[in-house]
Amino acid sequence: MNETANTLSPTTRIAVVGGGYVGLVTAAVFARHYAVTTFEKSRARLDQLQAGVCPIYEPGLPELLQEGVESGRLSFAGPLSVAQHDFVFLCVGTPSNQGGAAKLEAIFEAAQAIGGNISSGTIVVVKSTVPVGTCDRVERIIASQAGGASFHVVANPEFLREGSAIDDCEHPDRVVIGARDAEAADRLAALYRKLDVPIFVCDTRTAELIKYAANAFLATKISFINEIANIAEALDVDVTEVATGIGLDHRIGREFMSPGLGYGGSCFPKDVQALRHMARSNRYRFRLLEAVTAVNRQQRVRFVQKVERVLGGLQGTALAVYGLAFKPNTNDMRKSVSVDLVRRFVRAGSEVRAYDPVVCDKAARALGPEVRICGDPYEAVVGADALVLVTEWDQFLHLDYSRIRELTRRPIVFDGRNVLDRALLEGLGFAYYGVGR
Ligand code: UDX
Repeated sequence: MNETANTLSPTTRIAVVGGGYVGLVTAAVFARHYAVTTFEKSRARLDQLQAGVCPIYEPGLPELLQEGVESGRLSFAGPLSVAQHDFVFLCVGTPSNQGGAAKLEAIFEAAQAIGGNISSGTIVVVKSTVPVGTCDRVERIIASQAGGASFHVVANPEFLREGSAIDDCEHPDRVVIGARDAEAADRLAALYRKLDVPIFVCDTRTAELIKYAANAFLATKISFINEIANIAEALDVDVTEVATGIGLDHRIGREFMSPGLGYGGSCFPKDVQALRHMARSNRYRFRLLEAVTAVNRQQRVRFVQKVERVLGGLQGTALAVYGLAFKPNTNDMRKSVSVDLVRRFVRAGSEVRAYDPVVCDKAARALGPEVRICGDPYEAVVGADALVLVTEWDQFLHLDYSRIRELTRRPIVFDGRNVLDRALLEGLGFAYYGVGR
């Protein structure tokens, strides 16, 4: 151990457990300043990392990982060996189980292994999204293995978004540190001082709940604006203007007020369920989140019904689907709205040709053999009865829509994210259908 609160040196040693989104981004960002070892359990992923291959699509991440490795400050290893490390960041996954609760096996397994070789003075930082009380359990597990070594467990939830993960990690709105011990909080805060970010210190249980509350609130904003969109559509009002009009009130804000097909991805669906489950376990029924989930599910059903209504039935139609990733700038398809939509289209008798700028053939195969994955956006629209935009990749804003107009069988566009230029499309002769406008 080589530092006190204000004297962190480049020889500060950090272990990052887990080479997923959060682990790799955390490791790459800290390796700008400190010595970081990332521990990855999967042999295949570790091989990739050691060979200099970035296993996930995240803008800027391959370059930052390479920079870290070339500087000698970043390395990758398999078996967990955290002796003589100043900080151990737990960045393993906490997926949902059947009942909606967060699965904590990976956290507890890592805690066991950490306890086996932790040195006195180490701070274990739980970055994974974990239910309230998990840090205390992690502390007990490590203590049971640690043979008297003194250590601290601190909660430090991560708020990065896929697609802008590095920027979010380097310039967060805040860093939340939940600690029982003030000196441990100070030492972790000192680690972040290089990033010059606002820090909020609280206890571990509060920090754990802050993470769930933040994601649940953002999901609520999305479902709220989607409900307004549905009413706006019935009243012939443009919801995007309503969103701007209310978003100008700084108490409300415009962000996460983009109506569309609802939220997907690896976090919102799972974290909303986990918070509902936490409430249930404490005999509280979180009615608002039940509604948030139901609205999110209903949003895609309504969209499919709209396509069906406009086309006069889906049986025998050909649909071009633009975008498969759950959001732009990622190749992640976990809980992507696209998967559900495409399945519904196929079940209703449509032939689907899908295009995504980065989701590769292999990942898209999960959609089933009925779906043809196209290598370019123009190929997907040949003979199509409609173009359906599901993920708002920037590329889709800059396509040659007069060419697309010529290639399609029927000039109809369903814009599931309200991002296309309606006036331009209508000028070209397309019938345009957005969400709530
Ligand atoms: C989210 C949180 O933003 C982040 O703080 C947390 O750490 C992890 O979960 P992420 O899932 O990567 O990040 O992406 P985000 O940009 O939040 O989008 C989540 C989903 O909400 C996407 O499906 C997106 O399309 C949808 N969304 C977002 C909307 O439908 N409307 C919006 O206005 C914003």
